Amino acid sequence: MFRQISAPVSVQWELTSACNLNCLHCYNYWRDSSHPKGLHVLHGNPGSEIIAKELIRNGVFQVTLTGGEPLTALNKHLSGLTLIQEAGIDININTNLALLTDERLHILKSLGIKSILTSLMAHDARIHDELSNTPGSFEATRNGINKAVSNGIKVAVNMVVTKKNLAMIRETGQFVKNLGAVGFCATKASKPSSCPDFTAYHLNQADLHHMFTELLSVKEETGLNVDSLEHYPACAFPDGITRTALGGRSCSAGKTGCTIGFNGLVRPCSHAQQTYGNIADGFHLAWQAMHEWRSGDLVPQYCKNDCGEFPNRCGGGCRVEAENCSHSLKGTDPFCTNSVPPARVPITKMVLDKNATFLPAKGLRFRNEDVGQIAYASVKNWLLIDNKVADLLKGVHTKNGVGFTLRDLALTFGVSEERAYPTLHLLVSKKLVS
Ligand SMILES: C[S@@+](CC[C@H](N)C(=O)[O-])C[C@H]1O[C@@H](n2cnc3c(N)ncnc32)[C@H](O)[C@@H]1O
Ligand code: SF4
Ligand code: SF4
Repeated sequence: MFRQISAPVSVQWELTSACNLNCLHCYNYWRDSSHPKGLHVLHGNPGSEIIAKELIRNGVFQVTLTGGEPLTALNKHLSGLTLIQEAGIDININTNLALLTDERLHILKSLGIKSILTSLMAHDARIHDELSNTPGSFEATRNGINKAVSNGIKVAVNMVVTKKNLAMIRETGQFVKNLGAVGFCATKASKPSSCPDFTAYHLNQADLHHMFTELLSVKEETGLNVDSLEHYPACAFPDGITRTALGGRSCSAGKTGCTIGFNGLVRPCSHAQQTYGNIADGFHLAWQAMHEWRSGDLVPQYCKNDCGEFPNRCGGGCRVEAENCSHSLKGTDPFCTNSVPPARVPITKMVLDKNATFLPAKGLRFRNEDVGQIAYASVKNWLLIDNKVADLLKGVHTKNGVGFTLRDLALTFGVSEERAYPTLHLLVSKKLVS
């Protein structure tokens, strides 16, 4: 159903399961007691250099450091992190920022990290501390955001939304704008796998609609980039405007991304409990083993056979939410309405100058695949392309900035310029060339 690529494009690496906070909605918080929640160091797990070498060997393009709280484990993993940075892998980090110190800031900079995604549950200290289950955490995170921003690091804030803070999205958006954040995300809290009863927290359909519209109000009022960090069923959106703005994500689990747990076990995504092998035994084996996540076998029949949106316009909802709410990975996403989704707002397509010269993006990287190659500009902008297009892009590199035209592309394929135009358009819209 989804093409199998040789390895993920991007990976979440949980440096530790330990955390300085105890957020009530967090999948770490609800994990069973055999997993440590304190700040102790784990023994017996694959060393960070082994993990790093597997990521490099498999040609992963981007790694997000996460946890637990990754700032607590930076030093422990420094040798492995340095290896991946030297190999040219992009590194990002998800952190609550409460433990940011000068030393840690220095490490982040040395790893080439220019932007941070942090978590803040409310603009109000009392509510945030209640939800993080940790007194003083609001102040600590606010100080961390200030420190990062004043040191030239771009900070985006993710607000995990439950029934407890749904009413505070706009004030929180305004608050983070005033702190100097460049982006604001409001993301529905997924039901943590080991939480017996999440009803006091879990949004319902109306709450979700409210979250979407409030998020768009934040964009209008503050000018911040806004987003929501989950794949939502297309039929869960109330209208075309919210679907167009916030419905662009598909489920990447086992298709283009996966998670390396603190213990080295490979999972399809951070929310999933299923493991497919230890990275120390070969990342490739674990990646191959996740076949069911890309075959379409887990997607409900209605999505596959009747809806018409799957797989190109909707991924069929979140499999982990489905499992946590219906006890089956093949179940229906609790926010799927099985109704016709609202149409996206048509976007005016940019028109390219057919005589212009196009240059490949700076730092464009390639990875060989069974069929063609992946050309990667950034985690949002990459494509599986034909070898001929890849050769053209690489050839242009060596010509040192001369670039190529629509005519060159047409000649490469032996087709008319008219037929080559959509390919050029795709390359430009994915920012592989400009
Ligand atoms: C588990 S945290 C680890 C990184 C760091 N401790 C932090 O809080 O940013 C990774 C991301 O997951 C988000 N998150 C935590 N629990 C969630 C849930 N139940 N549903 C959706 N997102 C969640 C956090 O806000 C954060 O953006
Ligand atoms: S700070 Fe992050 S890892 Fe820690 S409990 Fe909160 S969401 Fe989970
Ligand atoms: S019915 Fe399934 S495929 Fe269709 S929009 Fe809803 S979740 Fe997506």
